[in-house]
Amino acid sequence: LSAARRPSVIWLSFQECTGCTEALTRSHAPTIEGLIFDFVSLDYHHTLQAASGRAAEAAREAAQHENAGRYLVLVDGAVPLVEHCSTIAGISNLQMLKESARDAAAIINVGTCSAYGGLPMAQPNPTGAVAVGDVITDKPIVNIPGCPPLPLAITGVIAHYLTMGRLPELDHLGRPQAFYGENIHDRCYRRPFYDRGEFAETFDDEGARKGWCLYKLGCKAPITYNACAHVKWNQGVSFPIQSGHGCIGCSEPRFWDAGGIYASV
Ligand code: SF4
Ligand code: F3S
Repeated sequence: LSAARRPSVIWLSFQECTGCTEALTRSHAPTIEGLIFDFVSLDYHHTLQAASGRAAEAAREAAQHENAGRYLVLVDGAVPLVEHCSTIAGISNLQMLKESARDAAAIINVGTCSAYGGLPMAQPNPTGAVAVGDVITDKPIVNIPGCPPLPLAITGVIAHYLTMGRLPELDHLGRPQAFYGENIHDRCYRRPFYDRGEFAETFDDEGARKGWCLYKLGCKAPITYNACAHVKWNQGVSFPIQSGHGCIGCSEPRFWDAGGIYASV
């Protein structure tokens, strides 16, 4: 990885909450510092870049011009088709996405909003939010869904591209198999309670205190594909089910409206 060329990255933030960037800053392999100082040239990112105003937009344009055909576009947030709903430097999100994608080598959607529309696309969707893949159809796209995605999934995809020179193997929903190939339920540490029929009935009953299965409290992990149960968060410390709440299927298409019942396989 250290011998790889540092490719330019343009990170576009549209209708989002910055949770995906928060997740990225928790990565430990590589760390965010290692990623942006040693492995990629992060030329545009609202939250992390030093430049602002015209200087920031000039950096985006220069990165695209100087690295045509080679740079990556990372996107967090959905894209509003009602264009005046979200603009940056007077440029609508839709226009900025189309311009930035034009000369990109590939697009990586970070988070459920850019991958599938996510919360901005939930009814009644007043901004006409759509996923990046709904408007960009002529570029390779990787989806790293999650609200937010696992930090290791974000950096893992970038590291794979840097070391192998190509995008990772994807499933039918554009997700990297390495992180989304398994069902959370199949790797959950509460699974033995599920198999024995031991379920918490409320969030504060004896079963909940004993760590029993959360299926009867609405856990959607049996139909959710992600690496949360074994990769976990904060350097492997925990994940939603371990903290006492069932999975809400945040990485599946049609999250939130489908209530986590979009069966992705
Ligand atoms: Fe499956 Fe959820 Fe129960 Fe874990 S808590 S065993 S993922 S239903
Ligand atoms: Fe989301 Fe479920 Fe993982 S809610 S963070 S996919 S455990």
